[in-house]
Amino acid sequence: MKKISIIFFFFILPLAFADLQLGFYASSCRKAESIVQKVVQKRFNRDKSITAALLRMHFHDCFVRGCDASLLIDSTKNNTSEKQTGANASVRGYDLIDDVKEAIEAACPSTVSCSDIIALATRDVVALSGGPKYNVPTGRRDGLVSNSVDANILPGPGSPIPQLTQFFAAKGITTEEMVTLLGAHTVGVAHCGFFSGRLSSVTGRPDPTMDPALDAKLVKLCKSNSNGAAFLDQNTSFVVDNAFYKQILLKKGIMQIDQQLALDKSTSTFVSNFASNGDKFVKSFASAMIKLGKVGVLVGKEGEIRKNCRAFNKRN
Ligand code: HEM
Ligand SMILES: *[C@@H]1O[C@H](CO)[C@@H](O)[C@H](O)[C@H]1NC(C)=O
Ligand SMILES: *[C@@H]1O[C@H](CO)[C@@H](O)[C@H](O)[C@H]1NC(C)=O
Ligand SMILES: *[C@@H]1O[C@H](CO)[C@@H](O)[C@H](O)[C@H]1NC(C)=O
Ligand SMILES: *[C@@H]1O[C@H](CO)[C@@H](O)[C@H](O)[C@H]1NC(C)=O
Repeated sequence: MKKISIIFFFFILPLAFADLQLGFYASSCRKAESIVQKVVQKRFNRDKSITAALLRMHFHDCFVRGCDASLLIDSTKNNTSEKQTGANASVRGYDLIDDVKEAIEAACPSTVSCSDIIALATRDVVALSGGPKYNVPTGRRDGLVSNSVDANILPGPGSPIPQLTQFFAAKGITTEEMVTLLGAHTVGVAHCGFFSGRLSSVTGRPDPTMDPALDAKLVKLCKSNSNGAAFLDQNTSFVVDNAFYKQILLKKGIMQIDQQLALDKSTSTFVSNFASNGDKFVKSFASAMIKLGKVGVLVGKEGEIRKNCRAFNKRN
């Protein structure tokens, strides 16, 4: 038994991640990472909400078919792609990826994958937003398949924690890492449709797991605009920090899954630890993001390097 697990850890695990390496483009496209950084910085200067957009995009891409940029493909006349579904839940930032890709193609045609661009751009924007600086191994290849139905596997904002845990475990992500990654809800927004089911205006009674002042505020927001949006972290809404965990301990989680993280026995200890120790969160977030970026990647001769992130390359 022991022998088997040693074989697993030393041979099978590294093989699963083979060919992703730090600085994969060092000789083939020396400027790749600095081009990404430059375009991301420029966008961030005028739009701080790009951080949330990229974090959510990276997660949705990686958790559907692996980090293969299948999410970026546009639908065609007879075929709907992964982004074209209810579960795409307003993922945005596609135009930023287009901008980066255009700049990179001009410097090094057909060399840098769209999936690496998502991972690198997300890393850069996290660092710009007060989060950790971390290294992202590269060498991902772009997928050849994108189907709208595939995205239906993503859980919703009312999914129970045990179901979430199972979903993440199936991708090799532990419960603690899952709690860390959901800390990405320290930036960005949720639209009324994703949380209005918790509000007293809909249920007819206060939700004991929501701060009454927050309930009142959200009722007002969604009454004036049913497509309104609330910051997921009500305190430091644009900063990648541990404030999200402090907020949910104060019953200020916007979506049910966020609030449940603080209440469920299997996750509440991680929440308290991250809430009281910002350094621990920052370190964990860096390593969890690196792990997220390795889920189901294509490497070597698999897939392709797309020229346009929104369309598969033409076959002759
Ligand atoms: C499976 C667990 C998760 C569920 C059910 C979930 C669900 C949601 C929902 C419903 C929204 C609101 C979208 C909208 O109203 O436009 C949202 C926003 C967001 N999610 Fe998650 N999420 C999950 C995990 C994650 C993870 C792991 C990350 C990143 C590592 C992430 C990053 C974000 C970000 C940054 C936003 C804000 C997006 C924006 O402002 O554009 N989420 N999430
Ligand atoms: C859509 O049309 C293209 C080109 O006509 C074809 O190659 C492809 O197989 C079609 N896809 C589906 C899902 O029908
Ligand atoms: C997301 O899905 C909805 C519903 O299917 C669709 O109307 C919308 O255009 C999609 N968004 C993107 C960016 O494709
Ligand atoms: C279209 O359909 C095929 C399967 O018939 C799929 O492999 C392909 O990725 C789909 N998506 C798009 C956007 O073409
Ligand atoms: C809100 O953020 C500030 C820092 O900007 C911090 O000092 C304060 O303790 C936070 N409050 C809560 C309730 O998290």
